[in-house]
Amino acid sequence: MSNYNAHESAVEETINGAVKGNSIGKRLGIIATCVVGGSLVALYAVAGPFVAPALRKICLPYVPATSVQVENVLKVLRYRSGSLVDIGSGDGRIVIAAAKKGFRAVGFELNPWLVWYSRYKAWREGVHHSTSFYISDLWKVSFAQYSNVVVFGVPQMMEQLEDKLGKELQNSARVVACRFPFPSWVPDDSVGEGIDSVWVYNAKTFQSQAQINQATEK
Ligand SMILES: C[S@@+](CC[C@H](N)C(=O)[O-])C[C@H]1O[C@@H](n2cnc3c(N)ncnc32)[C@H](O)[C@@H]1O
Repeated sequence: MSNYNAHESAVEETINGAVKGNSIGKRLGIIATCVVGGSLVALYAVAGPFVAPALRKICLPYVPATSVQVENVLKVLRYRSGSLVDIGSGDGRIVIAAAKKGFRAVGFELNPWLVWYSRYKAWREGVHHSTSFYISDLWKVSFAQYSNVVVFGVPQMMEQLEDKLGKELQNSARVVACRFPFPSWVPDDSVGEGIDSVWVYNAKTFQSQAQINQATEK
């Protein structure tokens, strides 16, 4: 009889142990699922805005300007003042460098992480009062109010942007294109070589050229 009892309690212990082990295993499974799921969501939230531009009709990826490129932009704007906008402002380096030279500088950027980082960097470098960064699609914003416009775009977008800026900008504005020139406008100046090249376009020049073109088409 006592042998039978001993056997029964051994079986019970084994079953309890198995049930306990099973529930620990279940808990570990849930924790692992949460960790993997949470990591994937976090990865998507961080990487998504960097990948999204590649999925748009015009793919304009995040490629920051080189320091020589930034210097060249400042060089061709050295006798200018007032407002400046960087179209697709990335991590804010052009906006911040321009603010340090006295411009009221603004950046429009689709990627919210880059906008938050730009705001932080502007604050850290002491130019947060003369800079603003907006999470916006460049095609949905008017640039009419800016007297200095900087863009580091891609060739596929330059014709459409030329059209947009040609209609929006005031006669006194100046446009600086980094790395890729505009297809139809004739530059007033250019500085730098290769990937650091920048082209300067005065609105006075491209708007009077547009008027001549219109008159000859009639
Ligand atoms: C070539 S990077 C230039 C970054 C910055 N201007 C510089 O020179 O360092 C182009 C930037 O435009 C942003 N971008 C892409 N599509 C955009 C859109 N539709 N509206 C606003 N920004 C956009 C990208 O996220 C990227 O940061």
